[in-house]
Amino acid sequence: MNKLSICLLTPALFLILSGISFGQTATGSTPQLAMTPPMGWNSWNKFGCKIDENLIRETADAFVSSGMRDAGYVYLNIDDCWMAKERDAHGDLQPDPARFPHGIKALSDYAHARGLKLGVYSSAGTKTCEGLPASLDHEEADAKKFAEWGVDYLKYDNCNNLDRPAPPRYKAMADALRKTGRLIVFSICEWGANNPGEWASGVGGHLWRTTGDISDNWQSMMRLLDKQVGLEKYSKQNAWNDPDMLEVGNGSMTDAEYRTHFSFWALLNAPLIAGNDIRSMTPAIKNLLMNREVIAVDQDWGGKQGYKVRDDGETEVWMKPMSDGTRAVILLNRGGSDTPAAVAVTIAELGLPAASKYKTRNLWTGEVGTITNELRAVLPAHNSAMFIVRGFHK
Ligand code: GLA
Repeated sequence: MNKLSICLLTPALFLILSGISFGQTATGSTPQLAMTPPMGWNSWNKFGCKIDENLIRETADAFVSSGMRDAGYVYLNIDDCWMAKERDAHGDLQPDPARFPHGIKALSDYAHARGLKLGVYSSAGTKTCEGLPASLDHEEADAKKFAEWGVDYLKYDNCNNLDRPAPPRYKAMADALRKTGRLIVFSICEWGANNPGEWASGVGGHLWRTTGDISDNWQSMMRLLDKQVGLEKYSKQNAWNDPDMLEVGNGSMTDAEYRTHFSFWALLNAPLIAGNDIRSMTPAIKNLLMNREVIAVDQDWGGKQGYKVRDDGETEVWMKPMSDGTRAVILLNRGGSDTPAAVAVTIAELGLPAASKYKTRNLWTGEVGTITNELRAVLPAHNSAMFIVRGFHK
């Protein structure tokens, strides 16, 4: 081989060896593990650091007995604070010996035996947000442990990141997870700080947070909703915007406010990750989290995210085009006035094909109706109504 051909070959060889060829990451494209938005539970919103293996086992049992599992909630995700204060003698992460004495593998076995899956948490930083050991520059060793422990889902946070750019920090863990050979959903949690819609799916994320943390109140939930405007273009199968976990059932919103929270998260194709105590749900909260028709909007295979179609200040209308040509619609009164507000949207604004009439089904009351030109509801403060609208010819 002469000098010239060696010169020409070398860059090509570098690209192939470094995995940059053909636009692929080093170990292939994102595994197809989230063709619809993941559904499950996470310990953080209700329990913070007050977690232990009993809570996880009892939540697994409650998932089965309450019907949550059969409604589609399968991931049991342990958030921050599962790990011991120090790595072990080999430099590996280890579970907190007092709170998780039987280790993570025992919990994944427990979950798997019940048809559930187990998730854990770490940070793309030197420490988690609670100051415990995290995975930056330990990606391969930590991913190997997660795989050995039978983990199915990793939420990967952004605290203590040494100001290093986000995409390579997240890519390093996605690649490490893939290298283990175990199928692990990768949930990117950089709080929407670096425009994740532009790169999170490309580096191997199945979902990515679009905002800072939710709190259990109407204002917080509405603030997060406002931040979703315009992000619908990033949402697709295996790649979901995550407006944060659910607060439904945590006690500081009314049932009507929680109904609105759940309706919107479904319309937004959000991961439905419950954040309440599954062991002690009221019948109202159970009905809410397990409303099959609202869950079906979230899980619609077409993977089109809903978006805002009218904004009249205190009232708004949002719509998700469903894969069967119908429209899921939310009419919202976000105002606080004692006088109920009329909220309306025309068939034209919903983009429905021409028909002589349209059938409506209220997904919360089951009430059906017929309209010709306009969908309308009168709603009290902090309330909403959710419908499926379909055209028909008579
Ligand atoms: C960050 C995340 C939260 C939660 C906590 C845990 O704030 O955004 O969802 O994981 O860390 O410390």
